Amino acid sequence: MAIFTSTSSRSTILTVTCIVIFFITFNFLHAKATNPPPSIFKTIYAFGDSYTDTGNTQSETGPSGFMFVSQLPYGRTFFHHPTNRYSDGRLVIDFVAQSLSMPFLPPYLNQKADKSHGMNFAVGGSTAIIHSFFARNNMTINITPQSLQTQLGWFDKFLESKGCKDATTTAMECGAVFNEALIWVGEIGANDYAYSFGSSVPTSKIQQLAINSVTGFLQTLLKKGAKHIVVQGLPPTGCLTLSMYLAPKDDRDDMGCVGSANKQSYTHNTALQAKLNIFRQKYPESFIVYADYYNAYLSITKNADKYGFKELFKVCCGYGGGAYNYNFFDACGSPSSTSCANPSQYVNWDGVHLTEAMYQVMADAFVNGTHCHPPFGYLFSKKSQSG
Ligand SMILES: *[C@@H]1O[C@H](CO)[C@@H](O)[C@H](O)[C@H]1NC(C)=O
Ligand SMILES: *[C@@H]1O[C@H](CO)[C@@H](O)[C@H](O)[C@H]1NC(C)=O
Repeated sequence: MAIFTSTSSRSTILTVTCIVIFFITFNFLHAKATNPPPSIFKTIYAFGDSYTDTGNTQSETGPSGFMFVSQLPYGRTFFHHPTNRYSDGRLVIDFVAQSLSMPFLPPYLNQKADKSHGMNFAVGGSTAIIHSFFARNNMTINITPQSLQTQLGWFDKFLESKGCKDATTTAMECGAVFNEALIWVGEIGANDYAYSFGSSVPTSKIQQLAINSVTGFLQTLLKKGAKHIVVQGLPPTGCLTLSMYLAPKDDRDDMGCVGSANKQSYTHNTALQAKLNIFRQKYPESFIVYADYYNAYLSITKNADKYGFKELFKVCCGYGGGAYNYNFFDACGSPSSTSCANPSQYVNWDGVHLTEAMYQVMADAFVNGTHCHPPFGYLFSKKSQSG
């Protein structure tokens, strides 16, 4: 346009551009450097598996390798009683809620809980891929019937009760749910690989189906108007005690973890991030943060001393001593098991799940540290810009 060719307009444009860049940069740095303002989100809706489940499963309904979640020593460190969390205390999602000055997320299945600040749909043992796939392929050992689809079904029921169908036909109703909400998609998919271990279905197939399932899930949420979404990748599953206990001794990487399992998690995460990039372009009104569980975990265990961890692979709660103190048939909470005197020196709690101490450091790495991409704080600047 002709009007922009005069030098004065050009310098005005330049000035405006500089100011805009300054503010964007300022917001970005500002978001990274400061703590989140309290209660910037009104609600949190969380999804995932036992790493995120705050009580949707109990002993009889959870994965069969962890039959004792409803009794001590589960919960011993923080709650001092079992809460059906798969740890000695709080999980990452609990620390995230606390850091936002919000109450702990009640499990969706608890009918009596106050859900005015959101709820948690995560289910211990849950898979990304629909349950019938595993049943069809005879992979039913250790299995929970719920998948990410089940959790979406529950959330959908809730959204329907609020009149939210999709972001176009019921924009107001969906806006009322999502504009002030943080959507937390906890780690999901580790169980899919675990359940298919030793089956004839190739892991590349599991990966493809699991990624499709997670992206289908995200697409559904985005179409309904989800605005602030955190998606956690897989942890380095080869560093979990159960993997190390099961895998051949020569299957190890430079971290001393099961190399094949870590490679699987790593390629899964790479594929997931590629899909997130596509969604960022397709839904510019929404904001998607990737929480890099894999690298956060490895960077913490590489600097274990700094965080006071003395045991990276030996479980706190188990049986048998040795390098792992783990035996599949003497799981944490069983009569033969014992739990350690100082859980905060252990990364692994019961073979698969982490200690509260590790979850706390992980949460800090996501919320205050450098392991969210873009940084977690950017959600707040985004949130305060959109009102
Ligand atoms: C599952 O097990 C049944 C009964 O043992 C068998 O007939 C069927 O072929 C198996 N299916 C697969 C996909 O392995
Ligand atoms: C982030 O840092 C603040 C200030 O140090 C702290 O209060 C908060 O608990 C941290 N968040 C997490 C999740 O650790």
